Amino acid sequence: MANTQGTTGLLGWIDERFPLTKMMREHLTEYYAPKNFNFWYFFGSLALLVLVNQILTGIWLTMSYKPSAADAFASVEYIMRDVDWGWLIRYMHSTGASAFFVVVYLHMFRALIYGSYKKPRELIWIFGVVIFVALMAEAFMGYLLPWGQMSYWGAQVIVNLFSAIPVVGPDLSVWIRGDFVVSDATLNRFFSLHVIAVPLVLVGLVVAHILALHEVGSNNPDGIEIKKGPKGNRWDPKAPADGIPFHPYYTVKDLVGVGVFLLFFSFVIFFAPEMGGYFLEHPNFDPADPMKTPPHIAPVWYFTPFYAILRAVPSFAGTQVWGVLAMGAAIVMLFFLPWLDRSPVKSIRYRGFLFKLVLAAFIISFLILGYLGALPTTPARTSLAQVCSVIYFAFFFVLPILPWFEKTKPVPERVTSK
Ligand code: HEM
Repeated sequence: MANTQGTTGLLGWIDERFPLTKMMREHLTEYYAPKNFNFWYFFGSLALLVLVNQILTGIWLTMSYKPSAADAFASVEYIMRDVDWGWLIRYMHSTGASAFFVVVYLHMFRALIYGSYKKPRELIWIFGVVIFVALMAEAFMGYLLPWGQMSYWGAQVIVNLFSAIPVVGPDLSVWIRGDFVVSDATLNRFFSLHVIAVPLVLVGLVVAHILALHEVGSNNPDGIEIKKGPKGNRWDPKAPADGIPFHPYYTVKDLVGVGVFLLFFSFVIFFAPEMGGYFLEHPNFDPADPMKTPPHIAPVWYFTPFYAILRAVPSFAGTQVWGVLAMGAAIVMLFFLPWLDRSPVKSIRYRGFLFKLVLAAFIISFLILGYLGALPTTPARTSLAQVCSVIYFAFFFVLPILPWFEKTKPVPERVTSK
């Protein structure tokens, strides 16, 4: 006899004890997503794919990696040369780290252009920003593990920043390192945090992110709430008329995105795994040497915009604390975006010229900062970084007053298929 889900046999047996069919319906076959998603909506599922890639390749790397200052560098070389397919697993993981940030930055940009952070999706956005911070911590700690020159000196520079914090700073940086300099103790704790603690947090946050999304429903390129529109589609008379079941329609669409992504991903892994020193920095092919500082220490590309903001702020009375605060503020501002953007219109399609201008200035200054952060400083570069930092922060302060001047277009009642 069929149960409340209408299932029989083995599935019926499971459904009477575990909400399998119920969950599949709620989150896949009866989750009605707007029918007008475009390619910008690929990046959420791609971020999930990269997360799984990082976890799986990470587990296999851990089987041969040795987290000690004496063995770490050699164990990575051993993985690259002697472990069967070790080179592939390592390149999948190191390329995956950069791919993660490419995908997540594009995913965040999508939220900016379609106003996906606005009511009622504030919590989806907040979980997203926390994911972004956790991801940065994860990447930073992972980078120490190969114990190359850049691993060592990069960690040294970043952990030293904490000592700029008044009163508690010096003790705090010793506490983070577990020593007075980056050492074996630091490597051990970063390994533990990178391999288990932060990934657990990340997975939990991603679940919360998607639960929050499914509670309110997805936004779309028109920025229209399909739940508030007419009801009744061909699957369900009570569901939004402009919604289609996530499965099979978007699972199939997302597979196209996965295919295209894997083409790019494989190209990098097989033909350019170092990406000219941007994905794997050249000094990191030398083992860490605490007695020899590399001539130019630069973080990996995904941190460079924030690093450029840090360097753009001059140090007063010998302390870098204002630069550190500015760098922190550059990330913290993101949390407030849902409340800073007061426009009644969500999507860029119906927003005025002013918003497009302000957003373009913000993105361009962020890209320039990223470029500058990878280079050694010169007075001209520092001045440019200062201008770009001001534009970056100005974006957040201009947003609340923008609706006074912005001329928006009328938003249609139903989604358009463009
Ligand atoms: C591990 C990283 C992440 C994963 C796996 C992830 C996953 C997803 C997925 C699967 C979706 C639904 C599909 C889509 O809209 O593309 C989504 C939506 C969303 N994500 Fe993320 N996300 C991540 C990071 C972030 C970050 C860092 C932010 C922002 C700071 C963010 C903000 C959003 C927003 C606002 C939506 C709703 C989009 C809409 O409905 O238009 N996500 N995310």
